[in-house]
Amino acid sequence: MTTFETRALLKQLEATVEDNLDRHLASADDWMPHEYVPWSEGRNFAVLGGEPWAIGQSRLSPVARTALELNLLTEDNLPSYHRELGNTLGRRGAWGAWVNRWTAEEYRHASCIRDYLLVTRGVDPQRLERARMATMQAGFDSGDKPLLHACAYVCFQELATRVSHRNTGRYSADPVAERLLARIAMDENLHMIFYRNLVTAALEITPGPTLRAITDEVISFAMPGSVIPGYARSAVQIAKAGIYDLRIHHDDVIMPLVRHWRIFEAEGLDAEGEQARGDLKAALEALDARAARFVERRAEAETGRSADRG
Ligand SMILES: [Fe+2]
Ligand SMILES: [Fe+2]
Repeated sequence: MTTFETRALLKQLEATVEDNLDRHLASADDWMPHEYVPWSEGRNFAVLGGEPWAIGQSRLSPVARTALELNLLTEDNLPSYHRELGNTLGRRGAWGAWVNRWTAEEYRHASCIRDYLLVTRGVDPQRLERARMATMQAGFDSGDKPLLHACAYVCFQELATRVSHRNTGRYSADPVAERLLARIAMDENLHMIFYRNLVTAALEITPGPTLRAITDEVISFAMPGSVIPGYARSAVQIAKAGIYDLRIHHDDVIMPLVRHWRIFEAEGLDAEGEQARGDLKAALEALDARAARFVERRAEAETGRSADRG
């Protein structure tokens, strides 16, 4: 898409952005992050005369610690996401108002997960701080995605983040963490709806290129947290625990959006649209097959482990 075409599309979508910003503002709760943190559990660390952190102080399991840390570090990289979105969507008018509103909402997420983890001594604060420094210095670079690709990506990404927060909360076995992460997941869901409606409008304006963007983003999808130190190892643990795995990615993130957009029911597509839809069908089948293999291998490993124990 040329710069001229992108500008024209931004203009064509502006009314949808305006409507959805109004709808979003009317449906978003004005929630208070401090009300989700058990402050009375907090105490000083060594330098201020308290106790240093030790693993026995954490009530979280090792996998729950990993998942919470990964979710927090992903949220910590907000300045990069803000920059990427601002570059793609612009800083003016309804687009700019949305980018700033979205950023203000996202900022709560890292701040209250960190407060919760520090107050409850859930994770090693030094390790966490070093990882935050490394993550933010690595930054997040979406590779200058074209507008439609960026819009398709954020739909999947917001929904993936929603599912990952919600499942981490359930897995944590701590009602305080679960309540906090369920609250954040509601924000992510509203963000997803905003972008989903934008893509719906784009599908009407320019179906072929929008379908191509959706297909490309399904094929190349990577979590924004992939720049975090040790990401691959953490992602494997989280997948083994069933917090976020390929089955969940296919069933709870990709397919609900594909179905919502009624992609396989659309009629009258041009050659580009038909080609993109065919590629999407193949990509979804391949993802589904990989998910099935993953679940099978995980079950086999589980059976092996319980046989060892027995
Ligand atoms: Fe977030
Ligand atoms: Fe979000």
